[in-house]
Amino acid sequence: MPNDTTDWTAGILDPPTLEWRGDHVAMIDQTLLPGELVILEVRTVEGMAEAIGALRIRGAPAIGVAAAYGVVLGALRSQAAEPDAFRAKMAEVIARLRATRPTAVNLSWALDRMAGVLDRQAGAPPQQAGEALLAEAREVHREDAGLCRRIGKHGDELTPDGARVLTHCNAGRLATGGIGTALGVIYTAHHSGKRVSVYADETRPLLQGARLTAWELSRAGIPVTLLCDNAAGRLMSEGKVDLALVGADRIAANGDVANKIGTYQVAVLCRRHEIPFYVAAPFSTLDLSLPDGGTIPIEKRGAEEIVEICGRRLAPPGIDVFSPAFDVTPANLVTAIITDRGVCRPPYGESLSRLAVSG
Ligand code: MRU
Repeated sequence: MPNDTTDWTAGILDPPTLEWRGDHVAMIDQTLLPGELVILEVRTVEGMAEAIGALRIRGAPAIGVAAAYGVVLGALRSQAAEPDAFRAKMAEVIARLRATRPTAVNLSWALDRMAGVLDRQAGAPPQQAGEALLAEAREVHREDAGLCRRIGKHGDELTPDGARVLTHCNAGRLATGGIGTALGVIYTAHHSGKRVSVYADETRPLLQGARLTAWELSRAGIPVTLLCDNAAGRLMSEGKVDLALVGADRIAANGDVANKIGTYQVAVLCRRHEIPFYVAAPFSTLDLSLPDGGTIPIEKRGAEEIVEICGRRLAPPGIDVFSPAFDVTPANLVTAIITDRGVCRPPYGESLSRLAVSG
């Protein structure tokens, strides 16, 4: 690894995926990429809820950070002068943001942290409580950047020179407060001098692979080849994939992994072709309260995302649609889970709970 006297991630993170700017949040509107790079200014809780729900900001860790800043927006705009009225208002704000997307546990995790600040500030003047909320949101953001760096280092150790890596969806700098989870591993390996290249599944229906992964990797000078989702089996059968690396929205105590719809079939294909299937995620993506993936809430999205592509109608009117936004990959298909605290191997029930107490 080259001597890190300068922050080698700065170029990757420019412009920031999201940032706090004094009284509002500025974020890249990811629905417009790669055609337009537009920085959206979000000033209200409703604006933040809309941005998360519409996937202007998306990816499990990034929506956690965005929701934390959303609570700060609620505090700034609150008219409540008394502590009790302020707390009641903030409870509404947190409930509104929590309802935006159900699968990524990072969202609830970040909002629980903000609720904890409110508990500790009970009885404090609203302005003081608001300042404490901003400090916590900034800390959630700062921590996430650090978690990505550590995931990158752990994952780099599993990535051989010359690795051809298949990824699904976008688990990169656009999905986090830092360099990403799965793509954080790629950036780190590239930075350490390895020749890595990426195959990006396009990731229907919303094309996060084609629009976002391809955009951010090519900007960073990392070779990336786009394929439609149903070409992954062919690619593997030609011996062109050395490992698969994906992010996660929620990981249950037994190691079952919820991630973007289509991840499960990548894992099945990897098993068929004896290719390692790695999941990269920060500790905030673990949900040890769930024994397995069976009870992970899976977001269902609108039929228009299936019957249309980029606003153009494809399917006949009135057609029934099946549109889960996520699926669950059973733990027995996962070769390893790369976290900020280290690499977990099966049996995950043991390795993940050891990790929980190591933090
Ligand atoms: O619907 P999205 O775009 O929010 O889905 C994102 C994913 O599935 C990512 O793989 C996951 O959140 C991990 S991001 C580090």
